Amino acid sequence: MGNLSIADQVKQDGLSIHRQCFSSEEIVAINEHIARYIEEPHPGIVREDDRKSIRGIHGPHLYDNFFRQLVADPRLLGPAEEFLGEPCYVHQFKINMKQRMKGEAWPWHQDYIFWKNGDGIPRPNLINVAILLNDVDMLHGPLCLIPGSHKFGDLSESSKNTGDWEQDLSKDLTYQIGHADIDRLVRDNGVKYLTGEAGDVALFDPMVAHSSSVNLSPQDRVLLIVTYNTTSNTPRPDHNKPRPEFLSARDFRPLHQIANRRVTDQVIEPVFHELVGVEDGN
Ligand code: SIN
Ligand code: MN
Repeated sequence: MGNLSIADQVKQDGLSIHRQCFSSEEIVAINEHIARYIEEPHPGIVREDDRKSIRGIHGPHLYDNFFRQLVADPRLLGPAEEFLGEPCYVHQFKINMKQRMKGEAWPWHQDYIFWKNGDGIPRPNLINVAILLNDVDMLHGPLCLIPGSHKFGDLSESSKNTGDWEQDLSKDLTYQIGHADIDRLVRDNGVKYLTGEAGDVALFDPMVAHSSSVNLSPQDRVLLIVTYNTTSNTPRPDHNKPRPEFLSARDFRPLHQIANRRVTDQVIEPVFHELVGVEDGN
Protein backbone atom coordinates (compact mmCIF):
# COMPACT_ATOMS: atom_id res chain seq x y z
CA MET A 1 0.00 0.00 0.00
CA GLY A 2 3.12 2.21 -0.15
CA ASN A 3 3.05 5.51 1.68
CA LEU A 4 -0.62 6.23 1.30
CA SER A 5 -2.37 7.67 4.36
CA ILE A 6 -5.01 5.46 5.95
CA ALA A 7 -7.71 7.69 4.47
CA ASP A 8 -6.20 7.39 1.00
CA GLN A 9 -5.86 3.59 1.31
CA VAL A 10 -9.54 3.30 2.19
CA LYS A 11 -10.48 5.64 -0.65
CA GLN A 12 -8.43 3.56 -3.08
CA ASP A 13 -9.17 -0.02 -1.94
CA GLY A 14 -12.22 0.39 0.26
CA LEU A 15 -10.26 -1.12 3.13
CA SER A 16 -7.10 -0.83 5.17
CA ILE A 17 -5.63 -3.34 7.64
CA HIS A 18 -3.33 -2.50 10.56
CA ARG A 19 -1.53 -5.09 12.63
CA GLN A 20 -1.17 -5.21 16.42
CA CYS A 21 -3.03 -2.04 17.34
CA PHE A 22 -4.30 -3.44 20.66
CA SER A 23 -2.04 -5.29 23.09
CA SER A 24 -2.79 -8.81 24.26
CA GLU A 25 -3.65 -7.41 27.74
CA GLU A 26 -6.20 -5.08 26.18
CA ILE A 27 -7.70 -7.91 24.13
CA VAL A 28 -8.00 -10.04 27.26
CA ALA A 29 -9.72 -7.13 29.05
CA ILE A 30 -12.18 -6.64 26.19
CA ASN A 31 -12.97 -10.37 25.92
CA GLU A 32 -13.44 -10.65 29.69
CA HIS A 33 -15.78 -7.72 29.59
CA ILE A 34 -17.81 -9.31 26.80
CA ALA A 35 -18.08 -12.51 28.84
CA ARG A 36 -19.42 -10.54 31.81
CA TYR A 37 -21.77 -8.51 29.60
CA ILE A 38 -23.48 -11.56 28.13
CA GLU A 39 -24.04 -13.10 31.55
CA GLU A 40 -26.81 -10.50 32.01
CA PRO A 41 -29.76 -10.01 29.65
CA HIS A 42 -29.28 -6.90 27.50
CA PRO A 43 -31.18 -5.52 24.51
CA GLY A 44 -29.48 -6.23 21.19
CA ILE A 45 -28.16 -9.73 21.89
CA VAL A 46 -29.10 -11.77 18.81
CA ARG A 47 -28.92 -15.58 18.54
CA GLU A 48 -28.21 -17.92 15.67
CA ASP A 49 -31.03 -20.08 14.25
CA ASP A 50 -30.37 -22.65 17.00
CA ARG A 51 -31.72 -19.94 19.41
CA LYS A 52 -28.82 -20.63 21.76
CA SER A 53 -25.50 -19.55 20.27
CA ILE A 54 -24.94 -15.80 20.31
CA ARG A 55 -24.59 -14.39 16.79
CA GLY A 56 -24.09 -10.76 17.69
CA ILE A 57 -24.14 -8.24 20.50
CA HIS A 58 -25.52 -4.90 19.32
CA GLY A 59 -25.19 -1.49 20.94
CA PRO A 60 -23.36 -2.52 24.13
CA HIS A 61 -21.96 1.04 24.39
CA LEU A 62 -25.51 2.20 25.14
CA TYR A 63 -25.72 0.08 28.26
CA ASP A 64 -22.13 -0.28 29.49
CA ASN A 65 -19.45 2.33 30.20
CA PHE A 66 -16.51 0.10 29.33
CA PHE A 67 -17.82 -0.16 25.77
CA ARG A 68 -18.74 3.53 25.72
CA GLN A 69 -15.14 4.29 26.47
CA LEU A 70 -13.88 1.80 23.90
CA VAL A 71 -15.71 3.42 20.95
CA ALA A 72 -13.94 6.68 21.76
CA ASP A 73 -10.49 5.04 21.74
CA PRO A 74 -8.23 7.13 19.48
CA ARG A 75 -7.04 4.03 17.61
CA LEU A 76 -10.59 3.55 16.34
CA LEU A 77 -12.04 7.04 16.30
CA GLY A 78 -8.84 8.71 15.01
CA PRO A 79 -8.65 6.93 11.63
CA ALA A 80 -12.44 7.20 11.27
CA GLU A 81 -12.33 10.97 11.67
CA GLU A 82 -9.29 11.18 9.43
CA PHE A 83 -11.16 9.30 6.70
CA LEU A 84 -14.51 11.07 7.09
CA GLY A 85 -12.94 14.49 7.71
CA GLU A 86 -15.53 15.52 10.30
CA PRO A 87 -16.41 14.89 13.94
CA CYS A 88 -17.98 11.45 14.31
CA TYR A 89 -20.50 9.67 16.47
CA VAL A 90 -21.27 5.93 16.59
CA HIS A 91 -24.11 4.93 14.30
CA GLN A 92 -23.79 1.24 15.16
CA PHE A 93 -21.58 -0.94 17.33
CA LYS A 94 -21.70 -4.71 17.18
CA ILE A 95 -19.65 -7.68 18.27
CA ASN A 96 -20.14 -10.63 15.94
CA MET A 97 -19.41 -13.69 18.05
CA LYS A 98 -19.39 -16.38 15.33
CA GLN A 99 -19.22 -19.09 17.94
CA ARG A 100 -17.12 -22.19 17.56
CA MET A 101 -18.63 -24.87 15.31
CA LYS A 102 -22.01 -23.04 15.32
CA GLY A 103 -21.33 -19.55 13.95
CA GLU A 104 -23.31 -19.10 10.72
CA ALA A 105 -22.40 -17.28 7.51
CA TRP A 106 -22.94 -13.71 6.34
CA PRO A 107 -23.91 -13.70 2.62
CA TRP A 108 -22.26 -11.23 0.22
CA HIS A 109 -23.60 -7.74 0.86
CA GLN A 110 -22.83 -4.07 1.22
CA ASP A 111 -23.67 -2.30 4.47
CA TYR A 112 -24.94 1.10 3.38
CA ILE A 113 -28.24 -0.12 1.90
CA PHE A 114 -29.27 -1.28 5.41
CA TRP A 115 -28.51 2.14 6.87
CA LYS A 116 -30.12 3.98 3.97
CA ASN A 117 -33.39 2.05 3.86
CA GLY A 118 -33.48 0.91 7.47
CA ASP A 119 -32.29 4.05 9.22
CA GLY A 120 -32.69 6.94 6.74
CA ILE A 121 -28.98 7.80 6.54
CA PRO A 122 -28.71 10.14 3.53
CA ARG A 123 -25.20 9.35 2.20
CA PRO A 124 -22.78 6.40 2.37
CA ASN A 125 -20.22 8.54 4.22
CA LEU A 126 -19.69 6.22 7.14
CA ILE A 127 -16.78 3.94 8.02
CA ASN A 128 -16.49 0.56 9.74
CA VAL A 129 -13.58 0.05 12.10
CA ALA A 130 -13.13 -3.57 13.19
CA ILE A 131 -10.92 -5.20 15.83
CA LEU A 132 -10.05 -8.90 15.72
CA LEU A 133 -10.62 -10.16 19.26
CA ASN A 134 -9.03 -13.54 18.59
CA ASP A 135 -6.48 -14.95 16.17
CA VAL A 136 -8.30 -15.74 12.92
CA ASP A 137 -7.40 -18.18 10.16
CA MET A 138 -9.40 -19.60 7.27
CA LEU A 139 -11.18 -22.16 9.44
CA HIS A 140 -12.80 -19.44 11.57
CA GLY A 141 -14.90 -17.97 8.75
CA PRO A 142 -12.91 -14.74 8.40
CA LEU A 143 -14.46 -11.59 6.99
CA CYS A 144 -13.88 -11.58 3.19
CA LEU A 145 -13.69 -8.22 1.42
CA ILE A 146 -13.42 -7.45 -2.29
CA PRO A 147 -10.92 -4.60 -2.71
CA GLY A 148 -12.17 -1.83 -4.97
CA SER A 149 -15.78 -3.05 -4.94
CA HIS A 150 -16.90 0.15 -3.20
CA LYS A 151 -16.54 1.99 -6.52
CA PHE A 152 -19.46 0.22 -8.25
CA GLY A 153 -22.39 1.79 -6.41
CA ASP A 154 -25.29 -0.13 -4.91
CA LEU A 155 -25.17 -3.78 -6.04
CA SER A 156 -27.89 -5.04 -3.73
CA GLU A 157 -30.77 -7.30 -4.57
CA SER A 158 -33.53 -7.74 -2.05
CA SER A 159 -34.00 -11.23 -0.74
CA LYS A 160 -37.44 -12.04 0.69
CA ASN A 161 -37.79 -8.93 2.82
CA THR A 162 -39.81 -9.57 5.96
CA GLY A 163 -39.48 -5.94 7.07
CA ASP A 164 -38.07 -7.16 10.39
CA TRP A 165 -34.79 -5.83 11.72
CA GLU A 166 -33.92 -9.41 12.72
CA GLN A 167 -33.60 -10.30 9.04
CA ASP A 168 -30.97 -7.56 8.66
CA LEU A 169 -28.76 -9.59 11.01
CA SER A 170 -29.59 -13.11 9.93
CA LYS A 171 -27.89 -15.55 7.60
CA ASP A 172 -30.72 -14.74 5.16
CA LEU A 173 -29.80 -11.06 4.92
CA THR A 174 -32.41 -8.60 3.65
CA TYR A 175 -30.11 -7.15 0.99
CA GLN A 176 -27.57 -9.35 -0.78
CA ILE A 177 -25.38 -8.99 -3.86
CA GLY A 178 -26.27 -11.12 -6.88
CA HIS A 179 -23.94 -13.94 -7.85
CA ALA A 180 -23.16 -12.51 -11.31
CA ASP A 181 -21.80 -9.32 -9.72
CA ILE A 182 -19.74 -11.32 -7.22
CA ASP A 183 -18.33 -13.52 -10.03
CA ARG A 184 -17.17 -10.43 -11.89
CA LEU A 185 -15.86 -8.56 -8.85
CA VAL A 186 -13.89 -11.53 -7.51
CA ARG A 187 -12.45 -12.28 -10.95
CA ASP A 188 -11.33 -8.68 -11.45
CA ASN A 189 -10.30 -7.73 -7.91
CA GLY A 190 -9.68 -10.88 -5.87
CA VAL A 191 -10.61 -11.25 -2.21
CA LYS A 192 -8.89 -9.97 0.92
CA TYR A 193 -9.39 -12.32 3.88
CA LEU A 194 -9.35 -10.67 7.28
CA THR A 195 -7.16 -13.27 8.91
CA GLY A 196 -4.57 -12.25 11.46
CA GLU A 197 -3.99 -11.86 15.15
CA ALA A 198 -6.08 -10.58 17.99
CA GLY A 199 -5.53 -6.84 18.18
CA ASP A 200 -5.35 -6.25 14.43
CA VAL A 201 -7.64 -3.48 13.18
CA ALA A 202 -9.34 -3.11 9.79
CA LEU A 203 -11.20 -0.17 8.30
CA PHE A 204 -13.70 -0.84 5.55
CA ASP A 205 -16.04 1.30 3.52
CA PRO A 206 -19.79 0.56 3.79
CA MET A 207 -19.98 0.14 0.00
CA VAL A 208 -17.38 -2.65 -0.05
CA ALA A 209 -18.76 -6.10 -0.93
CA HIS A 210 -18.10 -8.48 1.96
CA SER A 211 -19.19 -11.81 3.39
CA SER A 212 -18.01 -14.56 5.70
CA SER A 213 -18.60 -18.27 5.94
CA VAL A 214 -19.37 -20.56 8.86
CA ASN A 215 -16.95 -21.05 11.72
CA LEU A 216 -15.90 -24.69 11.75
CA SER A 217 -12.97 -24.12 14.09
CA PRO A 218 -12.72 -25.00 17.80
CA GLN A 219 -12.54 -21.27 18.74
CA ASP A 220 -15.08 -18.45 18.55
CA ARG A 221 -14.31 -15.81 15.91
CA VAL A 222 -15.05 -12.60 17.75
CA LEU A 223 -15.10 -9.51 15.56
CA LEU A 224 -15.93 -6.12 17.04
CA ILE A 225 -17.14 -3.53 14.52
CA VAL A 226 -17.78 0.14 15.23
CA THR A 227 -19.54 2.11 12.49
CA TYR A 228 -18.84 5.82 12.69
CA ASN A 229 -20.97 8.44 11.01
CA THR A 230 -20.55 12.19 10.76
CA THR A 231 -22.75 14.77 12.37
CA SER A 232 -23.66 16.10 8.90
CA ASN A 233 -25.08 12.71 7.78
CA THR A 234 -27.59 11.91 10.50
CA PRO A 235 -30.87 10.10 9.64
CA ARG A 236 -33.49 12.02 7.71
CA PRO A 237 -35.95 13.52 10.22
CA ASP A 238 -38.92 12.20 8.20
CA HIS A 239 -37.63 8.60 8.26
CA ASN A 240 -40.43 6.51 9.70
CA LYS A 241 -40.27 3.21 11.50
CA PRO A 242 -36.72 3.58 12.86
CA ARG A 243 -34.93 0.39 13.84
CA PRO A 244 -34.07 -0.09 17.54
CA GLU A 245 -31.45 2.21 19.01
CA PHE A 246 -29.01 -0.69 19.37
CA LEU A 247 -28.91 -0.75 15.53
CA SER A 248 -29.42 2.91 14.70
CA ALA A 249 -28.13 5.63 17.02
CA ARG A 250 -30.35 8.37 18.38
CA ASP A 251 -27.51 10.33 20.00
CA PHE A 252 -25.61 12.30 17.36
CA ARG A 253 -23.20 14.18 19.60
CA PRO A 254 -19.58 13.81 18.41
CA LEU A 255 -17.29 11.61 20.49
CA HIS A 256 -14.08 13.61 20.19
CA GLN A 257 -14.34 15.26 23.61
CA ILE A 258 -13.52 11.90 25.22
CA ALA A 259 -11.27 10.52 22.49
CA ASN A 260 -7.86 10.69 24.09
CA ARG A 261 -7.94 7.67 26.36
CA ARG A 262 -7.07 4.05 25.74
CA VAL A 263 -9.36 1.33 26.92
CA THR A 264 -6.94 -0.14 29.44
CA ASP A 265 -5.60 3.12 30.83
CA GLN A 266 -7.69 2.12 33.84
CA VAL A 267 -9.34 5.50 34.03
CA ILE A 268 -12.79 4.02 33.93
CA GLU A 269 -13.99 5.98 36.95
CA PRO A 270 -13.04 9.49 35.72
CA VAL A 271 -14.30 8.70 32.22
CA PHE A 272 -17.49 7.35 33.74
CA HIS A 273 -18.07 10.66 35.53
CA GLU A 274 -17.23 12.60 32.40
CA LEU A 275 -19.81 10.58 30.47
CA VAL A 276 -22.43 10.99 33.14
CA GLY A 277 -21.69 14.72 33.12
CA VAL A 278 -22.25 14.86 29.36
CA GLU A 279 -25.49 12.96 29.76
CA ASP A 280 -26.70 15.18 32.56
CA GLY A 281 -26.05 18.25 30.46
CA ASN A 282 -28.54 17.10 27.87
C1 SIN B 1 -20.63 -7.77 8.65
O1 SIN B 1 -21.08 -8.06 7.59
O2 SIN B 1 -20.81 -6.62 9.06
C2 SIN B 1 -19.84 -8.72 9.49
C3 SIN B 1 -19.76 -10.10 8.98
C4 SIN B 1 -18.92 -10.94 9.86
O3 SIN B 1 -18.86 -10.72 11.08
O4 SIN B 1 -18.28 -11.85 9.36
MN1 MN C 1 -21.75 -6.10 6.76
